[in-house]
Amino acid sequence: MQPVALRPNVVAMAANRLQKKSQPVRFGGDTPTPKAQPDALPDPRTTFVPGLAGIVAGVSSVAEVDPNLHSLIYRGYDIRDLVANNASFEEVSYLLLNGKLPNKSELGQFEQKLRSQRDLPTPVLNAMLNHTLPDNSDEMDVLRTYVSMLGPHDPDAGKNDPAANQEKAIRLIAKIPTIIAASYRISHHQKPIKPDPSLNQAENFLYMLTGQKPDPLTAQVFNATMLLYAEHGFNASTFSSRVTASTQSDLYSAITSAIGTLKGPLHGGANQEVMRMLLDIGSVNNVDAWIDNALAQGKPIMGIGHALYKNGDTRAPILKKMAEQLSRQHNDMKWYDMADAIEKKMMAAKHLYPNVDFHMAYLYYLMGIPIELYTPLFAAARVVGWSAHAMEQLSLGKKSLIRPNSLYDGPRGQQYIPVDQR
Ligand SMILES: CC(C)(COP(=O)(O)OP(=O)(O)OC[C@H]1O[C@@H](n2cnc3c(N)ncnc32)[C@H](O)[C@@H]1OP(=O)(O)O)[C@@H](O)C(=O)NCCC(=O)NCCS
Repeated sequence: MQPVALRPNVVAMAANRLQKKSQPVRFGGDTPTPKAQPDALPDPRTTFVPGLAGIVAGVSSVAEVDPNLHSLIYRGYDIRDLVANNASFEEVSYLLLNGKLPNKSELGQFEQKLRSQRDLPTPVLNAMLNHTLPDNSDEMDVLRTYVSMLGPHDPDAGKNDPAANQEKAIRLIAKIPTIIAASYRISHHQKPIKPDPSLNQAENFLYMLTGQKPDPLTAQVFNATMLLYAEHGFNASTFSSRVTASTQSDLYSAITSAIGTLKGPLHGGANQEVMRMLLDIGSVNNVDAWIDNALAQGKPIMGIGHALYKNGDTRAPILKKMAEQLSRQHNDMKWYDMADAIEKKMMAAKHLYPNVDFHMAYLYYLMGIPIELYTPLFAAARVVGWSAHAMEQLSLGKKSLIRPNSLYDGPRGQQYIPVDQR
């Protein structure tokens, strides 16, 4: 290894330190303040945009979000078309990861891989069975922890090439639903249910959670919800996965970062907050007063509004149609009617539309999914988009690093006073 060339003043200080061991050496005090260079970055005061709103922070061919056209495009395919044609979550995952729809044999192989990778490594399952995390842990904390634990157990751990990352992405998509269902059951003192390789991704999750195979409409709707959650451009969690991948870190680290980001109520956490709100409102007759009161207190109405879509989230009307159908099947229109009343109220009061999480919440409720699993389920679908983006970022190699600047807003010119004189 080549020796590192040290700056002369560092060498002098080190020599000084050896000679005067009893006297502490002052590092840094004699370092001159560099003069501004003509080619320095632009003044942050001129480039600052709060929350990066509207800033283009990268180039991607994974998805296109066009708020003006109300469209969400996965690799060139409109999601409305994918849902209308009953595309499976599996083929959409293939599309997002590979950039093209699979043919029959490619899809067969992909599905086979997914189905064969659903079991968890024994140490991960044992950690759950031993109640390593407190039983009342937040389910997103549980998911983040066990996804992180999967990393070193991956057969391709240590490899970061595109082929290994494709395999890792498939393992993540296959195993995350197993983590969610198994950890939930174990923390509620029920036996985990082994994945069933005869079932597709949507059916298998509901089966692992409840022990019951879902009826066809429930399976179809659940598949569509996963498809609609699978990808959404440079949202906060995806950006987080890309920032982690931008350092040429590994896929599990990128996905773990993304899960932590999705957890917040301003992002993925909104779906469970919507259901808690509906339960709190209790009846369609209470909607007006409840919303008036919340708005008067300046509280955000969950599931309403969007950082990009100012004239409606493309996914919300699709979910509303499904919610109506499933509500009719369950002979329970209560949640649908309340949601419809909130939607109308918010439109009249603030000209705000529902987002993807709004109807998703009571769709999950009708399916009997526990509220605390709504955000983990978002992650179970979005892991596809996160992986596609992280791989895209990794493919940029040395040019991939995302490292923005900040605008300093703290004090300047402070004089250091030793602690015993403060
Ligand atoms: C997603 C969200 C953070 C976007 O915020 P944003 O980009 O600031 O939204 P807008 O710029 O369109 O807001 C316009 C106005 O409506 C208000 N507003 C936005 N969403 C609101 C909501 N859900 N409830 C009440 N008021 C809301 C804003 O405060 C703003 O008011 P102002 O003009 O008086 O400042 C915000 O809509 C929100 O908190 N929604 C609830 C959480 C949620 O559902 N998140 C999931 C997103 S997919």
